Amino acid sequence: MRYVPVLCLKEGMKLGKSIYSTEGVVLLAEDVVLTEEYISSLVKIGVNGVYIDDSISSDIEVKNVISDELRIQAIKSIKSIYNNSSNIGRTINMVENIAKSIMFEILNSKNIMINMIDIKTFDDYMYTHCLNVGVLAAVVGVGLNLETKRIEKLTAAGLLHDIGKVFISKEVLNKTENLTKEEEKLIQSHSELGYKYIKQYYTIPVTSYVGVLQHHERFDGKGYPDGKKGEEISKFGRIICLCDAYDKLVTKTATTKACIPSEAIEYIMANNGQIFDPKLVKIFLRRVAPYPVGSILKLSNGERVIVIENNEECSIRPKVRNVETKEIYDLTYDWNLRNVTIVAVEDI
Ligand SMILES: [Fe+2]
Repeated sequence: MRYVPVLCLKEGMKLGKSIYSTEGVVLLAEDVVLTEEYISSLVKIGVNGVYIDDSISSDIEVKNVISDELRIQAIKSIKSIYNNSSNIGRTINMVENIAKSIMFEILNSKNIMINMIDIKTFDDYMYTHCLNVGVLAAVVGVGLNLETKRIEKLTAAGLLHDIGKVFISKEVLNKTENLTKEEEKLIQSHSELGYKYIKQYYTIPVTSYVGVLQHHERFDGKGYPDGKKGEEISKFGRIICLCDAYDKLVTKTATTKACIPSEAIEYIMANNGQIFDPKLVKIFLRRVAPYPVGSILKLSNGERVIVIENNEECSIRPKVRNVETKEIYDLTYDWNLRNVTIVAVEDI
């Protein structure tokens, strides 16, 4: 199985994984053969790309960081939490349950490096983004060897990080033209609005709501709302800032195109120490794959290869297989290939 962006889909390709709506309804089932109509519907609903099964990838298993069942259930719950802030008791329970399940699945996963590509549609962007930030935060928390109780709190903060946006009009949030100074300020107020809301109604620990408050602070002190710097920013705030940025970069929105994972990781490396905490960037790079399993790469020697395994010690040099000859190369350990570099990621 491999990930192919919608614009590169062709009639006759076979779907490798089902596509679900926010409600968990199957929009297109695994094994369906794509037609022109299906492809244009996928473009219309804003899906970035899908997994397909073909001769070069049929034996490659792409493991998601959390199961489809948990993803569907969690998105439903997040939608209800973000849309129905009135039943506080119920929503607190939901947040705690999702955070626990995410942590449980990540701790029990044998994969050290994760493939963080997921199938999103325009209408569920807010909810999938919050789920992804929760999942990535849990991955970083596990990488930092935090105690399970702390990982749970961190995940909860990731899930709730943008809840302040429910108090801002959709018109302003979804505006695609240049924002006025006032509108910009209004949008920036979401971290404080979310913090106050959670602090008032939720019985979750201080560290979680402070993480929500500080998720737009920057390591160099140029963030908001308080311009805190370095370790003045809580660990949860610094982690959520990093995870939030990564998921935004790899997501297509009405105004931005999606970066591929390797580009997003390069951006994070470029802003190491400015926006992001270098210690956390180091953990992130060991956990999130820049070339997810199933990516098709072009090497400097002209070969076309597919990624079959990632290596946490050197994530930018994965184990790959030539798509024609099926020969396997380990770009980290194979000495004969030390002059060969990755020059392009194909089809994305
Ligand atoms: Fe935010």
